[in-house]
Amino acid sequence: MGTDAGAMASDSSLEHELEAMLEIEKFEPPAEFRERANWSDPAIYDEAAADPVAWWTARSKELLDWDIEPTEGLNDSDPPFYKWFEDGRINASAQCLDRHVAAGIGDRVAYHWRGEEGEERDVTYADLHRDVQRFANALKDLGVDKGDVVGIYLPMIPEVAVAMLACARIGAIHNVVFGGFSAESVRERMEFADAKALVTVDGARRKGKTAPIKEQVDEQMGSVDSLKTIVVVRATGIDVPMTDGRDVFYDEVCAAADPECPAEPMEAEHPLFILYTSGSTAKPKGILHTTGGYLTGAATTHRYVFDLKPETDVYWCAADVGWITGHTYIVYGPLANGATSVMWEGAPDYPHQGVWWENVERYKATILYAAPTAIRTFIKWGADIPAKFDLSSLRLLGSVGEPINPKAWLWYHKVIGGERCPIVDTWWQTETGGIMITPLPGITATKPGSATTPFPGVKAEVVDEKEGEPLAEGQGLLMLERPWPSMLRTLYKEDDRFIETYFSKFGKERYLVGDAARRDSDGYFWVIGRIDDVVNVSGHRLSTAEVESAIVAHESVAEAAVIGQTDEDTGQAICAFVTLRGGTEPSKDVEAGIREAVATRIGKFARPKRIVWADDLPKTRSGKIMRRLLRDIAEGRALGDVTTLRDPDVMAELEAKIAEESDDES
Ligand code: WT7
Repeated sequence: MGTDAGAMASDSSLEHELEAMLEIEKFEPPAEFRERANWSDPAIYDEAAADPVAWWTARSKELLDWDIEPTEGLNDSDPPFYKWFEDGRINASAQCLDRHVAAGIGDRVAYHWRGEEGEERDVTYADLHRDVQRFANALKDLGVDKGDVVGIYLPMIPEVAVAMLACARIGAIHNVVFGGFSAESVRERMEFADAKALVTVDGARRKGKTAPIKEQVDEQMGSVDSLKTIVVVRATGIDVPMTDGRDVFYDEVCAAADPECPAEPMEAEHPLFILYTSGSTAKPKGILHTTGGYLTGAATTHRYVFDLKPETDVYWCAADVGWITGHTYIVYGPLANGATSVMWEGAPDYPHQGVWWENVERYKATILYAAPTAIRTFIKWGADIPAKFDLSSLRLLGSVGEPINPKAWLWYHKVIGGERCPIVDTWWQTETGGIMITPLPGITATKPGSATTPFPGVKAEVVDEKEGEPLAEGQGLLMLERPWPSMLRTLYKEDDRFIETYFSKFGKERYLVGDAARRDSDGYFWVIGRIDDVVNVSGHRLSTAEVESAIVAHESVAEAAVIGQTDEDTGQAICAFVTLRGGTEPSKDVEAGIREAVATRIGKFARPKRIVWADDLPKTRSGKIMRRLLRDIAEGRALGDVTTLRDPDVMAELEAKIAEESDDES
């Protein structure tokens, strides 16, 4: 390799090979993998199905050490408000730390942390145990009590795990906001939850630049009445404004705090965290997870989906802690299982496009869990980049966040996995807390593009849209038909919205997922995508209404309709149809202003990729915007039925606009 010509030649022969592999229907688990797998007997599915509650209870006792073991599995007396392991007592932070230290594995590395500029920190279980106790006491000293909400807005540094576990230790409810969200989004999420404290950072690095996070946070947080304290982690050392009586430095409060903080056993149903996620309306939903059930789901799925051998594996989940994937599969699952993880601070292309593979080689990672959007990006950069690194330590690959197209699956399998690593395509959601539909790597024959079948103990169906009747084959709505321990308990402070969103279509015992899916003749599930107005950009969940409301906040905008448009790189991309106020002409400046408004309101990742100027939008007679037609038009499909439109001519005008747009490009 080395020369461009060589790389191109190998790319095109790779292309041919992948093309040929598309013919392969099923990939059986390699015999070698199966022999050593944690689970290799398919009887596990029947065992779990025979009595799911007893089965989950047994997993809970197998993988967790309860302070008081529960005598009851599921309380389903008031659906959909299910309770699990109700009379049990357990502390999440003690499960993740104390018991490992007590078992003599305190020296084991919990996180091989690597910073953007190549800095390294190996954080052991004993280190975390020490830091979490101090910070838990510091939070108490700052007046944080059991049941209070603590915001966390931090980059990918070990302190993010410390902050989460310190909350768990004292029964405070953490409310993490992904670092890519704007400070305004943070304010909103603190207001909705009445957060009492916020843990943030002086500055956050991204590709060699440092963003002044504390300064941005200050501009927003003044108006949040409930917020008494801001704790600032000094990660970059940049100067920050500090408000007397409100702001403190993390290192200083930790140094002043008592080093010992015994973990208080919590009721199994004590809230562990809230995580805001996008729904059909502009207001994000506060997904509430509780302690015992969530930990059971996290530990069980992490152990068995990733076939984890805590003594020997080096596991890397390349998500951000700010999303549910990070909560469950960077923090709670791996730590509960005593795993050694890689934690990477940075972007996939800084300082170079091979940095992920450099990390795999450096830490001899054995398991990699990543999003299809990342894989597609690596495909674009070329197979010659990973080829420069030794990836032979890898033995299992995972995918999460959106459907993975078969070509990307095969590339992952061949180029990264060297054709020896099973791939687990894991379907789940913020709401489900943990993986729901997935292969078991020592059991399931995989099909590229399918998440295969439900995890043991989980019952999923594809049902017809009208009656909710399960379909043996074909396309319909994805439903989860029975409660599971790590399910959300409610939407924080919005019980009615919880019922309305998930349990109003087919009753209070059937969870409406919000995805369309198809089942094939083997009963395998193929998740197609959202049926509501939720868009998935690079695995980041956004609501069209949220983006619309950010756009209409721009002074020149009269109205906007946002859709998710299929995109080669990001899965879906935001496309906005915008009607300007009278007197404003479309221009590059207005366009930039609109993008900026979205970055400020939500975050840069939500900025529209495409803006179409529309004199009018297609609406029904009752005034509802018909996004379906906008999706058709944006993707160049033939238009469906337009007769229900108030003004059918609108579509012809828009079609002309789109045609103009493509003329401009050529
Ligand atoms: C939505 C949930 C799961 C944690 C990260 C995203 C889509 C997720 C898959 C998959 C097809 C998937 C669904 C789901 N999705 N995983 N393996 N195959 N689609 O969590 O932000 O709550 O989004 O992501 O549409 O409903 P989230």
